[in-house]
Amino acid sequence: GKTRHYEFNIKLQNVSRLCHTKSMVTVNGLFPGPRIVAREGDRLLINVTNHVSNNISIHWHGIRQLRSGWADGPAYITQCPIQTGQSYVYNYTIVGQRGTLFWHAHISWLRSTVYGPIIILPKRNASYPFAKPYKEVPIIFGEWFNADPEAIISQALQTGGGPNVSDAYTINGFPGPLYNCSANDTFKLKVKPGKIYLLRFINAALNDELFFSIANHTLTVVDVDAIYVKPFETDTILIAPGQTSNVLLKTKPHFPSATFLMEARPYATGLGTFDNSTVAGILEYEPPFLHSTVSMKKLPLFKPTLPPLNDTSFATNFTNRLHSLASAQFPANVPRKVDKHFFFTVGLGTNPCQQNQTCQGPNGTKFAASINNISFIQPTTALLQSHFSGQSTGVYSPYFPINPTHWFNYTGNPPNNTMVGNGTKVMVLKFNTSVELILQDTSILGAESHPLHLHGFNFFVVGQGFGNYDPNKDPKNFNLVDPVERNTVGVPSGGWVAIRFLADNPGVWFMHCHLEVHTSWGLKMAWLVLDGKLPNQKLLPPPADLPKC
Ligand code: C2O
Repeated sequence: GKTRHYEFNIKLQNVSRLCHTKSMVTVNGLFPGPRIVAREGDRLLINVTNHVSNNISIHWHGIRQLRSGWADGPAYITQCPIQTGQSYVYNYTIVGQRGTLFWHAHISWLRSTVYGPIIILPKRNASYPFAKPYKEVPIIFGEWFNADPEAIISQALQTGGGPNVSDAYTINGFPGPLYNCSANDTFKLKVKPGKIYLLRFINAALNDELFFSIANHTLTVVDVDAIYVKPFETDTILIAPGQTSNVLLKTKPHFPSATFLMEARPYATGLGTFDNSTVAGILEYEPPFLHSTVSMKKLPLFKPTLPPLNDTSFATNFTNRLHSLASAQFPANVPRKVDKHFFFTVGLGTNPCQQNQTCQGPNGTKFAASINNISFIQPTTALLQSHFSGQSTGVYSPYFPINPTHWFNYTGNPPNNTMVGNGTKVMVLKFNTSVELILQDTSILGAESHPLHLHGFNFFVVGQGFGNYDPNKDPKNFNLVDPVERNTVGVPSGGWVAIRFLADNPGVWFMHCHLEVHTSWGLKMAWLVLDGKLPNQKLLPPPADLPKC
C-alpha cells in the first residue's frame, strides 16, 4: 500500500440554500466535505486543524481501525476533542475493505455539515466482482437546517423535548427543485446511453432512513457498508443513516426522449419527529449531438414512485434480499461458535424533569433513550485514554448489564414506568471473544426502527424478526452461510435483529443508534476489548499529538 496525506482545515464558510445563508462549520470550506480516495491496503495520514470556536473530532465511519483505535474519532470515547487552534493527525491503514464509507464529525450535531465520502478502490490489479463501471459517482444524502443544528440540539436537551426537524434533505448538498427557492440547487447526474455507472450511496442524514429511486431505471445492489453482496435488482433502495451501498445503474441503450427525476424521502415509523419532505435530483442523458441541447429542455420529465412513508414490509423484503457474496475469493467468515450471548434492548424512555423546570417530553418528563435501560452519560475524559492509563475509577464502570434491567413484554403495551437508568458503563470482552448480540426494539414509547452502528468491527446479521425474540425458536432459523456483513443495521420497528462478530480488535468501541437525536438522548454504549497475549494483538500506544481534555 501507499501512504496518502490529507489536510482537513475545520473552518467557517457561508453557504446558501432555500434562500437562507448561514455560516457553518466545514472542512476546507466545502459542503459536503472533500473526498478521501484510497486503495485497500493504503495508509492514511489526515491532519485535522481546528480553526473554529467549537471543539471538533472526526470519525472514519466503518473503517475497521485494527489496533489503531486512537484514530477512530468519537469524542470522549477514543479521544478528547481537538480544541480551537489545535491539530491532530488521524493515522490508520485500510485492511481488507473496499467500497464506500464516509467520514463525519463525531461530537454534538456537527456532523450535519461536516461529512464527506471515503472511496476505497480495490488493490491495484484487483477487479470488481461485477461489470467494470464506465464511471463512479458518490451520492451523499444529508439534511439542511436553516437554523444552527448546535442550537437546536442544545435547546432540545435543555427542555427535554424533541428537536426541530431539518428544512430539507439534500443530495450531494443540494435540496433540489421540490423545495421553495431551490431549483438552482439541484444535483444533476449526467450520463451517456448504454453505459454502467457505479453509484456510491452514503446516508449522512442525521435522523432519517431514506428510500431512493430513479424514474424508469433499475438499480443493481452490489455492496453494502464496503462489503460485496450477491447482486440483486430493485427499483428502490432503502438506506439508513450510517449505511453506505454501491449500486450499478445501467443507462438506456439509446438516447431517451425524456429526462428522469431521482428522489429520496424517509422511511419512518414511531414518534414522527422527522422531516417528511422529498429531495429530488435529475438524471440527464447527455445529448448525442451538441445541437440537440436546445430541444432537450422540452423533454418530458418522469418521476419515480417511492414506497409509502411507513412501508415496513418493503423494508423487511429489502433487507431479506441482502446476502454476502460468500465466494472463495470473498468468504463470509461468520463466527460458528459463540463464546458470549448478549441480549440488549434498544428504545426510548424518559428521565425525570428537574425541579422548577417545565419539560416538553412525554407527561412533563424529558426524552431519554437507552440500551438495556441504561441511558449513556458522556464522560468528560476519553474512555480509551483512561483505560490505557489504568485510571478508570470515576470515569466509567466496567459492568454494563448483560440483560435489560427492567423486564416487560418489549413489544406489548407500554409499562407505567418509562424511566431509564443513567451511567457510563462499558461491556468488557476478552480478546477474540466470539459474540452473539440480540438487539430488541422496545416499543415503550412507540415502536421504531433504530439503525445501530458498531465502531471497530463489521458484524454478520444472522437473523431478524418481529415481536419479542424467542431464544428457543428463533436461533433455529439463523443464516450462518451467507448473512450480510455490515457496520450499521436497522433493528426492525417492533422487532429484533441478531448479529455476530469476533472481538479481534483491542480498544474501546462505541455502539449507538445512528439517528442523531437518539444518540443525544443516550442510546449508546461502549465495548472494551482487552489486548490479546501476542504482541500483534495489542492496541498500539497513543500518538504523541493525541488531544487532551
Ligand atoms: Cu457514523 Cu459513531 O458514527
